[in-house]
Amino acid sequence: MPSRQLACYGASGMDREARMRRLLIIGIGAGDPDHMTVQSIKALNRADVVFLPDKGEEKAALRHLREQICARFIEKPYRTVTVGTPQRAAAGSDYSGVVDDWHARIAANYERLFREELAEGQYGALLVWGDPALYDSTLRIVERIRDTGLALDWEVIPGISSVQVLAARHKIALNRIGEPVMITTGRKLAAGFPAGQDSVVVMLDGEQAFARIAPEDIDIYWGAYLGTPDEILIAGRLVDVAGQIMRVRASARETHGWIMDIYLLRRSKPAP
Ligand SMILES: C[S@@+](CC[C@H](N)C(=O)[O-])C[C@H]1O[C@@H](n2cnc3c(N)ncnc32)[C@H](O)[C@@H]1O
Repeated sequence: MPSRQLACYGASGMDREARMRRLLIIGIGAGDPDHMTVQSIKALNRADVVFLPDKGEEKAALRHLREQICARFIEKPYRTVTVGTPQRAAAGSDYSGVVDDWHARIAANYERLFREELAEGQYGALLVWGDPALYDSTLRIVERIRDTGLALDWEVIPGISSVQVLAARHKIALNRIGEPVMITTGRKLAAGFPAGQDSVVVMLDGEQAFARIAPEDIDIYWGAYLGTPDEILIAGRLVDVAGQIMRVRASARETHGWIMDIYLLRRSKPAP
């Protein structure tokens, strides 16, 4: 744990403290600069260097949002460093192995940049989409870098996630009274509507897995580009609106060159 490193005492502990590079891992919300919390803005203003990922295509728009956030909220001189993100190999049957290898390459990139661009004792900011705790690898990657021996400590500042924005924009509660909510991926949903669940939020679905499950008695609340001027919302019985969502999604993806979407599936009647 990073806090254990801070609890070192004595001369060598103080030496390590002074040599520490520090990261502020800041949740920036899911697409609207107004999602930035007061805590996120304060953290951003403590950074000496802001590391901005460059993920190519999709992602020029997402990079633009991060730059807008810096320009709007940072009230002192700051430096930005662009971080190239390596491509992930196709997952095939070894999903965990492929992701592990990808994370190792990302971590190596960041480690080099932290050594070169962040002086000992300085603060670097990483602007994480939505909330850092939800389907984001940043925390796992910084742990990996710390484990290589770099003196690194970090704070995590929570952000508004796309899950919360989806619920707010559709004006719904995520759970039925006293019932759980499952958050999963399109990849997992492809195996069918999870047994025993009532309300299931699906993220990271590039394959429209909702169209491959039995649609009877399921409602869907779908949202794309949430929080941005291009936001699209569709809700209804899955059997009625699945085709419409597929068409709207394909056309929006064509227009923008990328898409981010998320949805809640809910059994029309509570599970017995
Ligand atoms: C890598 S995950 C990042 C999640 C992020 N940490 C969060 O808290 O929302 C990316 C997935 O989040 C969802 N997502 C993030 N932002 C979104 C947005 N503005 N509109 C719709 N879905 C979004 C999509 O399901 C997308 O595939």
